[in-house]
Amino acid sequence: MHREDFQSLDPKFAQSLVDIVASELKKNVNITDDRGVILASFSKERVGQVHEAAAQRLTSGNIQEFSVSAEDEIRMRGVRRGVNVPIIFADRCVGVIGVTGDPETAAPYARLAARFVEAALESNANREKLMIALKEKRELQTIFVNKIISIQEEERKKISRELHDETSQSLTSIIVGLRVLAEVVTSKAEREQIMQMRDLVARTLDAVHHLAVELRPLLLDDLGLIVAAQKYVDHYCQQYPIAVDIDFVNLSREQRFLPEIEITMYRILQEALTNIAKHAQASHVQVKLRRQRQRLCLTVSDNGIGFNPDFTSKSGTRLGIFGMKERVELFDGIFAIKSLPGAGTEVAAEIPLANKKNKKRIW
Ligand SMILES: Nc1ncnc2c1ncn2[C@@H]1O[C@H](COP(=O)(O)OP(=O)(O)OP(=O)(O)O)[C@@H](O)[C@H]1O
Ligand SMILES: [Mg+2]
Repeated sequence: MHREDFQSLDPKFAQSLVDIVASELKKNVNITDDRGVILASFSKERVGQVHEAAAQRLTSGNIQEFSVSAEDEIRMRGVRRGVNVPIIFADRCVGVIGVTGDPETAAPYARLAARFVEAALESNANREKLMIALKEKRELQTIFVNKIISIQEEERKKISRELHDETSQSLTSIIVGLRVLAEVVTSKAEREQIMQMRDLVARTLDAVHHLAVELRPLLLDDLGLIVAAQKYVDHYCQQYPIAVDIDFVNLSREQRFLPEIEITMYRILQEALTNIAKHAQASHVQVKLRRQRQRLCLTVSDNGIGFNPDFTSKSGTRLGIFGMKERVELFDGIFAIKSLPGAGTEVAAEIPLANKKNKKRIW
């Protein structure tokens, strides 16, 4: 245990303890560290007489409690009668409490005060251990979340490409084949049946295409966030009776960011708009994506029924809002939801662009 650790004892706490004992006994009281340096004292002028003696004993390696008797007081000129009780922490003497006066009267107070300081040090150390454990847990959690998101994104990308390149191509070939077949059959009824089948396959192709885009829009990888966000909003407006205004501030269509930042902002836009379609009963949405110095900021506000965000954050089954928050926090960004029942909702996410940590991500 080093001196610094001992000093982690709050000086105000040490001083209060000294003041209490001193006012009770009407004697001088001090607390010194293991080098005899005063940490707290009742009477600065006179207290040195006791702590000097204590420091001598400490440096000589004797950490037993010791008293200065009336005879000592006469023999060792300048040293006042009193008692010195070591403060033991982690099997070491980390300091001394000195109380002047008749050692028999002073000793119980000094001992009590020493035990009190030891308990405070113990509790400090425990708190520190707890803080370290919590920090480690949070770091581990961040690694897990990062890993889960990266695996999920990779998987989505793979399935999306598969749907786009394989499934869509096959469905398109079937549509073409059915059209050719419809032209060669002579019976009208058969032709109609084939055309119905063709329409069904065409609708399936649309659904597959939609699924692929939801999973991972190739546009995002190829042309970037601005184009992909605009496209997503256009498609959203066709799907739902909701008007969406989208504004890009300080951003050009060609502007690119780290892929992880682009996908994060895209997922937040996607989840916020999906939530609006699912829950908000809104007629109008305002989306704003802006670059502000070294930060990328997204806000999505609706004029819907709103909700109480404090309440929903406590229910573990809803993952949308939780997921948005986790994603943003991976980048040391800020995520906030402002909402009130009846007054619409605003989702805001801010990600620093020039954060060194954000350049090290793997997905
Ligand atoms: N824009 C909004 N307007 C009104 N209520 C909302 C809005 N966004 C979220 N909510 C409320 O917050 C709750 C939590 O949203 P969250 O996205 O976390 O979960 P969810 O959409 O219900 O499920 P999922 O896990 O599929 O996203 C919703 O169930 C809804 O009650
Ligand atoms: Mg949701």
